[in-house]
Amino acid sequence: MKKRTFLHLAALSAAALATSHAIAQDNTFKIGLILPMTGQQATTGRQIEAAARLYMAQNGDTVAGKKIQLIIKDDTSLPDATRRLAQELVVNDKVNVLAGFGITPSALATAPIATQSKTPMVVMAAATSSITQASPYVVRSSFTLPQVSVALADWAPKNGIKKVITLVSDYGPGIDAEKYFKDRLTFNGGQVTEALRVPLRNPDFAPFLQKVRDGKPDALFVFVPSGAGAAVMKQFLERGLDKAGIKLIATGDVTDDDQLNDMGDGALGVVTSHHYSAAHPSALNKKFVEAFGKANKGLRPNFMAVGGYDGMRVIYEALKTTRGQGGGDALLAAMKGQLFESPRGKIFIDAQTRDIVQDVYLRKVEKKDGQLYNVEFDVIKDVKDPGKAK
Ligand code: PHB
Repeated sequence: MKKRTFLHLAALSAAALATSHAIAQDNTFKIGLILPMTGQQATTGRQIEAAARLYMAQNGDTVAGKKIQLIIKDDTSLPDATRRLAQELVVNDKVNVLAGFGITPSALATAPIATQSKTPMVVMAAATSSITQASPYVVRSSFTLPQVSVALADWAPKNGIKKVITLVSDYGPGIDAEKYFKDRLTFNGGQVTEALRVPLRNPDFAPFLQKVRDGKPDALFVFVPSGAGAAVMKQFLERGLDKAGIKLIATGDVTDDDQLNDMGDGALGVVTSHHYSAAHPSALNKKFVEAFGKANKGLRPNFMAVGGYDGMRVIYEALKTTRGQGGGDALLAAMKGQLFESPRGKIFIDAQTRDIVQDVYLRKVEKKDGQLYNVEFDVIKDVKDPGKAK
């Protein structure tokens, strides 16, 4: 071979390589999933990762000609780490979508990055009302605390509960739960006699529960984030608050399906309001719970898992609608207004607020086939986040 021909060929194949590399990159759709995989919120990360992987296993990893790549990062639920990881995912990995966000401070720390880079940010867990207002690129597939707290404040006074002490984790979602529960209970003729707040990190519930015992309310209303419910339940029972005639009522974060079955029979009868129960009696949910358990050594999906599963669907559908051609703005537009049946029931991404509209259920802890479940006994249909109604 003449030297010139060889060089020419070499140049050609280098160009071909470069082109195929560009195509490979072009044909990849990257989802940067930032989750707390370790630390206090680790169960949230475990549940959402399992749900995202299940969604991909069931729906394939190629959408509109693009290969979906899931890049999972552990932020240990520290917002500075979330922000740094989001920055790296956007700048270095050039992700098409940011997703995950186990707690509110992590979501709020990332919102400016989503805005600056015009990257859709799918919030699958965090649930403070104001998160969707922190960036026009936020879309939420989880829930909000005002959305689920109000139903319980309507139920309580009709069921002999007039005087309530509230106990919440002292940050965004807890403050939302406290305010919306109290306002609605007061409107309904009830009364919050004391509002207690416990630190988010390493809370010691004992001194607060002693105060509750001394205050003799009809009920104690609790919000703590997913993963902390079992500790509250244990201490509530150990201090004999149930025997003192104080009822425990809570958002479903407390009787979290990830932990509920290990809480013991002391949890029986606890009434909560929430958007998802593993015992939700729909055909779609039965399939979801079964497939999730099968893929994860019998693990029961909780409300975090369903937020992750539905968030993946929102992303997949947006990619299909834009035929794999659009940038961040096109994807965002295709996420707004989506309506579909989730394992929790029918859900809708409100195009105006980018927040989720969904049914909220009243549930009671009961034993079914020897296991503890949140059994739904009433439903409020199509609930918007009351935090947006101002
Ligand atoms: C939140 O930080 O927004 C959050 C975390 C866990 C929950 C609910 C809300 O269960």
